[in-house]
Amino acid sequence: MPKKIKRIYLDYAATTPVDPRVLTAMLPYFSEKFGNTMSLHSFGQEAKEALEESRGVIADLMGAKPMEIIFTGSASESNNLVLKGIAFANRDRGRHIIISPIEHACVMESAKWLETQGFEITRLKVDKYGLVSPDDVKKAIKKNTILVSIMHANNEIGTIEPIEEIGKICKEKGVYFHTDAAQSFGKIPIDVNKMNIDLMTVSSHKMYGPKGAAALFIRKGTKIEPLIHGGGHESGLRSSTVNVAAIVGLAEAARICEREMKEEAQREIKLRDKLINGVLKKIEGSHLNGHPKERLPNNINFSFPGIEGESLIMQLDFLGIAASTGSACSSEKLEPSHVLLAIGLKPEQAHGSLRLSLGRWTKEKDINYVLEVLPKVVKRLREISPFKK
Ligand SMILES: Cc1ncc(COP(=O)(O)O)c(C=O)c1O
Repeated sequence: MPKKIKRIYLDYAATTPVDPRVLTAMLPYFSEKFGNTMSLHSFGQEAKEALEESRGVIADLMGAKPMEIIFTGSASESNNLVLKGIAFANRDRGRHIIISPIEHACVMESAKWLETQGFEITRLKVDKYGLVSPDDVKKAIKKNTILVSIMHANNEIGTIEPIEEIGKICKEKGVYFHTDAAQSFGKIPIDVNKMNIDLMTVSSHKMYGPKGAAALFIRKGTKIEPLIHGGGHESGLRSSTVNVAAIVGLAEAARICEREMKEEAQREIKLRDKLINGVLKKIEGSHLNGHPKERLPNNINFSFPGIEGESLIMQLDFLGIAASTGSACSSEKLEPSHVLLAIGLKPEQAHGSLRLSLGRWTKEKDINYVLEVLPKVVKRLREISPFKK
């Protein structure tokens, strides 16, 4: 009988499994407490209570007030709502928006679409680690700037941006500041007041909650237009019958992340650094993308010159290791990652990249296995590579 290969999931940045504790919290809301939060009877009120409790949990974990949280269907939806909603609600004040060149596609594409609607977008540069300079933000803000949107932590290279300083500048200049915290909320501490954040995107399925739920912090008094009009749910900003089970799951997932954050971050950093140091030592010419220190506890991103990232992913998958070439969304396009190009990699270097993202169920033996097989796979691919000198 052939030996059964083990399966190791190292793509937690793409999505995470639902934590069994989260699933347990969600289950009653499918067929027992299934009411519509807008209904006046007890079924509706039961669902409404769960919704409001979840709102309170999310608000608490970021230092916001419950009324400043709305629930949406995804981080992409939240980011679309922020860019388009702020643009259209504030267009009489100005039509200029600032973003970084390493934002997630849902921010990049929303900004591109806004250009077709007469808005001006400034895409700041980043340094070789992917860091935005707060000074560049300050210089880019003009009289007609209405929004600065800079992500908290990058999904491909894990770099954590200096958002506290950026938030301070935006506050001084009277410009709304949005941060996409889809990859960071639940992994590293965030306080919307300390960091002067006006709007913040939170995802559920990146922190062991279900897909189909996300939260958006909108500071009280912010002028924003909805994308989805209808029955007036979520303070009129996101009409549609509320997905209570998923929201209860999101809140439970956030609670667990908060409770276990410190210990889990320390555990993941230890595993992350073991893998980084091991690979840099064992594989000639390997390069770590992203910041060596200012990075998410669970993110690793390498470039291996002379090979194709896609072939590497296939080979690793064959050996039971699930990894990614870049962001989950760009890996189908087979185009070099805009993030890796923005930090100065040449297209061929960007093509030879590998993202390994760790999570709650990653064990030291998984890291040891990667350290055992990855150097062999890279060596083999280099031998057959058309790029070989
Ligand atoms: C930083 C960041 N923002 C937004 C998103 C979009 O999330 P979703 O596809 O769940 O809408 C992702 C997903 O990869 C992400 O990593």
